[in-house]
Amino acid sequence: MTPSATPVASPPDKPASATASTATLSFDGRSYDFSIFEGSEGEKAIDFSKLRALTGLVSHDPGFANTGACKSSITYINGEQGILKYRGIPIEEIAAQASFLDVAYLIINGNLPDSPELDAFVGEITRHTMLHEDIKSFYRGFPKDAHPMAICSAVVGALAAFYPEYTDPDDTEAEGAIIRLLAKLPTIAAYSYKHSIGQPFIYPRNDLDYTSNFMHMMFSTPCEEYVVDETVADALNILFILHAEHEQNCSTSTVRLVGSSQANLFASISAGISALWGPLHGGANQKVIEMLENIESGYGSAEKFVEKAKAKGDTTRLMGFGHRVYKNYDPRAKIIKQACSDVIENLGVKSKILEIAMRLEEIALSDEYFISRNLYPNVDFYSGIIYKAIGIPVNMYTVLFAMGRLPGWIAQWKEMRNDPEFRIGRPRQIYIGPVGRHFIPVQQR
Ligand code: ACO
Repeated sequence: MTPSATPVASPPDKPASATASTATLSFDGRSYDFSIFEGSEGEKAIDFSKLRALTGLVSHDPGFANTGACKSSITYINGEQGILKYRGIPIEEIAAQASFLDVAYLIINGNLPDSPELDAFVGEITRHTMLHEDIKSFYRGFPKDAHPMAICSAVVGALAAFYPEYTDPDDTEAEGAIIRLLAKLPTIAAYSYKHSIGQPFIYPRNDLDYTSNFMHMMFSTPCEEYVVDETVADALNILFILHAEHEQNCSTSTVRLVGSSQANLFASISAGISALWGPLHGGANQKVIEMLENIESGYGSAEKFVEKAKAKGDTTRLMGFGHRVYKNYDPRAKIIKQACSDVIENLGVKSKILEIAMRLEEIALSDEYFISRNLYPNVDFYSGIIYKAIGIPVNMYTVLFAMGRLPGWIAQWKEMRNDPEFRIGRPRQIYIGPVGRHFIPVQQR
């Protein structure tokens, strides 16, 4: 191959623009041109899809911080400017006006539904909220103290066994699975809570909206109907909307990777729920509240805790702070902060931990350690406080995150399966283990 004469990797499809320019890589006395292309909001990317074929090199990018694993038209994030849009619409506009199922439709189908479309979508979901009676027997097999995320991941995976007709690898639209997942996840989640406290499962009610129905299944008993407060239903609606989609985060990438083997939607979402569970991802909302309670009962002051989080060699982190992408402010945190104050005020909740949270935020935002590392409150910092105020048990916080994130996972799975560039996901590695060893029979070791 002659210098500067290598073929240029093919440009991407619309909406990304045609090649704007090329980037040249010099290696081993040769140079190689790679096309640069632009996303619809102007972000630039190098097309490295032919890197190995042309140069023999692979890229090494731990944590995928510089890797655009796909092209997507679902969500745009500008981490430097604190911008988040679903299908081109700013999150602030959506959170102020939409219902969660309206947003789910938008995210999954690409456009806001008109009134009949929304009615049909909501109607379908409402009619499929019950679980197959045999699924209930699964719950009896779980210990009472099982974490609800473990139960939810298992039961969602098991839906594939109950609906094999919606697991066809060639069904890239997956409509049957989509409706059932959106309809049944709140029921699965509420049953996991009921199981943990030894109360009978409460059937869904078709006259209630999505969030009110969830609260009903969580807190009603056969002896007493739980009356859903409007403030509570509204707060949940906003929280679900703000969690609904966030492009290639850990759980969404997991859903895509699992789905890239043509695994069915139930299996892929079950894996996404597991990925979400970790404390560095969705599990952070539970960790935030545990941290705040710890500060209240143990550390005595927010100041002391911040010093610990800053200390070199101490692995303590200020949970709910920092984000891989947002290096300015998490726009969702701004909206949640306001919702949090509204909930506390409307419900008249006295919250010592909210005071601690405010103090933590104040200290961290004026502390050189956090400023220099661009560490701001993320979506989890305030969501846990709202959940606590509306009576959600702590170990259900991440489950609620999963319920909110479901439309995003579904949309990403569908987009991937219908992408003309669809291939099984299969990253490479750089082997750094021993070389030239030989097998030694066990008697000679
Ligand atoms: N508290 C104290 N220090 C922190 C924090 C924190 N919350 N977050 C990052 N740092 C420090 C790191 O110690 C590191 O410092 P150093 O440069 O002196 O070594 C620096 O900031 C960069 O941190 P990284 O871990 O490299 O940042 P990364 O982008 O990989 O991690 C993450 C992002 C995982 C969110 C991290 O900020 C974190 O652990 N935050 C707390 C957990 C949390 O809130 N997770 C929820 C994320 S949002 C979501 O999933 C919905």
